[in-house]
Amino acid sequence: MRILHIGDIIGRTGRKAVQTFLPAVREKYRPDIIIANAENSSGGFGITYAVYEELLRLDIDILTTGNHIWDNRETETSIRKMERLIRPANLPEGVPGNGHITIEKNGEKFTAINLIGRVFMGLSDCPFRKFDSIVKDAAGFVFVDFHAEATSEKAAFGLYADGRAGAVAGTHTHVQTNDDRILPKGTLYLTDTGMCGSLNSVIGMAKDAPIERFLTGMPRKFEVENKGKMVFNALFFEYDSALKIVDFSKVSITSGD
Ligand SMILES: [Fe+2]
Ligand SMILES: [Fe+2]
Repeated sequence: MRILHIGDIIGRTGRKAVQTFLPAVREKYRPDIIIANAENSSGGFGITYAVYEELLRLDIDILTTGNHIWDNRETETSIRKMERLIRPANLPEGVPGNGHITIEKNGEKFTAINLIGRVFMGLSDCPFRKFDSIVKDAAGFVFVDFHAEATSEKAAFGLYADGRAGAVAGTHTHVQTNDDRILPKGTLYLTDTGMCGSLNSVIGMAKDAPIERFLTGMPRKFEVENKGKMVFNALFFEYDSALKIVDFSKVSITSGD
């Protein structure tokens, strides 16, 4: 089975980057399943039902999210209709939506789990223990989108899940890291898959407001950068019938390449 994991899609530019680059990426890597992080897909903050439908039309099979999941008020109710979207599994008990999903493709089961870190992040339960409780009953190959800020927390989780998850890829920092490798017990690991959005931006946002905020500490409204070159970041991997990783490669394309 061949899988493509696309990093955080940032607003209109991110959706345009997916639309622009995904056809060629699909042709080259021929993924059976495409997973994308959609926590910033609507205006840079959260996801609406309209954007959810738009992303599924781009042939994405599973959407993961993160700390921005509730940025749009409607998501609290519309998430019940978003059957292919998962939110972090370790959000507090009673929150709407699901934290993991199992789909079947080519007669094989594939489970995606979304978890959120706790270092420099909002309120959540322990992602490590939540993983333990989900993975013991998970069907088929297990993929984890670990949405976290701290590299150390992601690295620790990767080694904690080694041999129990098939692949662990990070999201949230929006910058693709260069540490993709197979861990000692066979799990594919990448600290961060990166993003789809504007290349010369502050992790997807137009530069002026964040620069001013760093200079003055004053509150400034962040807006998605909609101009200039685009970037498309993803992680491709393939596993065999024994669920062993047989191939993997980071994907990073910018317009003008
Ligand atoms: Fe993000
Ligand atoms: Fe995030």
